[in-house]
Amino acid sequence: MIALSRLQSLAKKHGTPLFVIDHDALRKAYRLFRKHLPRVQAYYAVKANPDAEIVRTLFKEGASFDVASMPEFKIVYENIKSMPAKARQDWIWDKIIYANPTKPTDTLEELNQYKPLVTFDNVEEIYKIKKHAPNAGLVLRLKVPNTGAMVELSSKFGALPGEAVDLILTADKLGLTVEGISFHVGSQTTNFENYVQALALSANIFQEARDRGYTKMNLLDIGGGFPAPYDDSVKPFPVLAKVINNELERLFPKDIQILAEPGRFLAAVCGTSVASVIGKAVRDGKTSYYINDGVYHTYSGVIFDHCKYPVKAFKKGATSICCVFGPTCDALDVVSMAENLPDLERGDLVYSVNIGAYSHASATYFNGFPPAKVVHENQ
Ligand SMILES: Cc1ncc(COP(=O)(O)O)c(C=O)c1O
Repeated sequence: MIALSRLQSLAKKHGTPLFVIDHDALRKAYRLFRKHLPRVQAYYAVKANPDAEIVRTLFKEGASFDVASMPEFKIVYENIKSMPAKARQDWIWDKIIYANPTKPTDTLEELNQYKPLVTFDNVEEIYKIKKHAPNAGLVLRLKVPNTGAMVELSSKFGALPGEAVDLILTADKLGLTVEGISFHVGSQTTNFENYVQALALSANIFQEARDRGYTKMNLLDIGGGFPAPYDDSVKPFPVLAKVINNELERLFPKDIQILAEPGRFLAAVCGTSVASVIGKAVRDGKTSYYINDGVYHTYSGVIFDHCKYPVKAFKKGATSICCVFGPTCDALDVVSMAENLPDLERGDLVYSVNIGAYSHASATYFNGFPPAKVVHENQ
């Protein structure tokens, strides 16, 4: 974590609200992922935090990328193509994955020239891809249990295991190649059994496809879901990695290429926000602080990501339970109804750590307040 004194001096220099991206923390998370899952190539899920400098740092570390829209694709493309040749030599366009199962036709048409890998999960999408991006390689997104995940994704995405091979054969009949299977166990999954079940379901589909004569699948994409260490209840990453490695070893031959789409795991730990107290009131006997960042801005994950970010003060002293409100006129703009904070004055600074994922990425300009200024440390 960035030293508190450094955060204070950055806030003094740049003003608040501030969003500090620590590239050392980003590299550390990437290396941890690769060290414990050596068989798995990491495709950073750009949606977690699409900052171009994050893309560049991860690219230099050897990452590939998961994009879910044309603008995300361009963020990756534009930043990678300007990298020095040495850093670029490992780049293989085929290894970017467009992992949004439903794609607009104009996006497919634009992507077609790159021979992209794209996911799909229904028959309508197969026909759309055939017509608008016939050069694409396909990856079937499977519906898998998301039990206990902080963000559930399986109600919106994924083919049922029972229909999976029929879909693969339909694509094959149309002359498209289904290269493999993907799944997502739900974001911030602390129930590791979800991975065990998803891997078993995927292995069954590989087998059923072979039994029915389809032998072109050589890729398994184990998605995102890897939990960020928000608190002590999250087991250390090596514990999850061991579960995944055991199942991969048991169920998937060495020639199956394994990839993953970690977003939160890489981005969360690299972001710290700093805000200022702009007002103070006592409501129902509880001190309420109004700060210049809120749920329409860096704390957007409180709403969209079902996430909580403890708000901490730089000031020391006896604490009491307080409310923390964002700056807008909307009563929804509540960062927290219960934070342990010392007695703060207008102008005092507060901060939140591990706020790098699904935060600044979904900040708005609501009420005329712009998103926090971004600064980069240890680039
Ligand atoms: C298709 C896909 N891949 C990867 C991710 C990243 O997931 P996470 O941040 O849990 O690693 C998401 C998140 O919504 C997703 O929808």
